[in-house]
Amino acid sequence: MTVTIVGSQLGDEGKGRVVDLYGDAADVVVRYQGGDNAGHTVVEDGTEYKLSLVPSGVIRGKVGVLGNGCVINPETLFSEIDALRERGLEPDVRLARRAHVILPYHRVLDGIEEEAKSDSDRKVGTTGRGIGPTYEDKAGRRGIRIGDLLTPELLREKLEYVVPQKRALAENVFGVETGEAFDIDALYEQYKAYGERMKEDNMTVNAGDFISSRLDDGEEAIFEGAQGTIIDIDHGNYPYVTSSNPTAGGAATGTGLSPGVVGGGEVVGIVKAYLTRVGSGPLPTELGGVAGDTPGYDEQGTGENEDLAEYIREKGGEYGTVTGRPRRVGWLDMPMLRHAARVSGFTGIAVNHLDVLAGLDELNVGHSYELDGEEIFTMPATTERWGRCEPNFKTFEGWPEVNWNEVVEEGYDAIPENTRAYLDYISDELGAPVYAVGVGPGREETIVLTNPLE
Ligand code: GDP
Ligand code: IMO
Ligand code: MG
Repeated sequence: MTVTIVGSQLGDEGKGRVVDLYGDAADVVVRYQGGDNAGHTVVEDGTEYKLSLVPSGVIRGKVGVLGNGCVINPETLFSEIDALRERGLEPDVRLARRAHVILPYHRVLDGIEEEAKSDSDRKVGTTGRGIGPTYEDKAGRRGIRIGDLLTPELLREKLEYVVPQKRALAENVFGVETGEAFDIDALYEQYKAYGERMKEDNMTVNAGDFISSRLDDGEEAIFEGAQGTIIDIDHGNYPYVTSSNPTAGGAATGTGLSPGVVGGGEVVGIVKAYLTRVGSGPLPTELGGVAGDTPGYDEQGTGENEDLAEYIREKGGEYGTVTGRPRRVGWLDMPMLRHAARVSGFTGIAVNHLDVLAGLDELNVGHSYELDGEEIFTMPATTERWGRCEPNFKTFEGWPEVNWNEVVEEGYDAIPENTRAYLDYISDELGAPVYAVGVGPGREETIVLTNPLE
């Protein structure tokens, strides 16, 4: 049995905490795409873990796999593993030999390209982790894979081919001087050593084989998506996207299992009860704005509902896990969620952060959009059209601050009536039942209606 966890919005929906929630009943947890651009939070007995590469199931002592769809920065990986060891955990992390390696020049090039775009509205606001340049090299058939680190001659050969191209790109196209990050000898020594550690620790696997043989033995697997549907390179608001497929299709290509395996299991869409976005691009239901990220904000400011945005940002702790940047905040957007539910085929949803909205008199949801005089119910395919959409809001009565711990103990029926009306609306619109309701960051602060693995 497999459960695929997919972000239904723009990332940071609380995927890590849902993986942790279901993780008790799982044997193996697999990340299928992305890299250390992710920041997944797990809160266990008041202790917070922020993970960018290590799969969230590792906190519960489960085997973690970084699938072939991932891009892996060994430096981040090992420092994260070492930090977890210092905190008393024994992370068992396996790496797909087919996964691609992020090298220092990828990070440098990520920064250079963002800088080159910074004077226009083309800047994406990436995490600067080298994600885009690494996937570019994968698609360009010049990438270096985890398997290559195990064979030094191969690593050397590949570096000798690719590094001069990268240096020329940085120096001749962008006019930037290059340093250590583009030095073949230094890179070779450093990455060969990473390969040796991977070999010594028996970390590398043929991921598809490894996972499927465990499933054949009756084990349970969670596929942990990173990022979210609207920053998916195919289904998101291109070009303000990441460079991989966080949607359920990516779970098949990124683990090495068939679409039948993924589709034969459950696909749980993770929904934040409002919206947040880190980086640039449109956000039709945005409240207020963030300088440098909200389009047009720097010239005129958006002003409207600035206080409310600030209130939600502070109460929800909406600052990037990876970069610390303030997240943009908006009302829930139904056309976005309808699109996400269709792309991934949600069999259930988990709705987080309902506690953050408590205490508001009323709240809005973008129910549909107005575009060129027409009402539309799902996201347009182009970002230019999406940017012109005006939301038609549906207003809900707010719910009071309550003792959420008591609600958790008593179960679903103890959830305030107006919160249940909000949940019912989302579930009805998406045609997917609510599996879990998050009312705080902690593992226990969840009302679980369905655990697909139990
Ligand atoms: P992910 O990237 O989808 O795993 O989400 P992040 O960990 O980046 O961001 C979610 C943030 O919200 C983290 O700080 C979580 O601890 C926190 N969080 C998750 N669920 C809830 C919830 O239901 N209520 C509150 N208040 N915080 C939550
Ligand atoms: P998790 O897994 C939120 C955003 C960046 C930027 C765009 C491209 O924690 O939900 P990239 O560095 O991937 O090339 O940046 O995608 N982004 C995220 N936003 N949560 C994430 O991950 C993100 N990973 C990337 O802010 O707008
Ligand atoms: Mg995150």
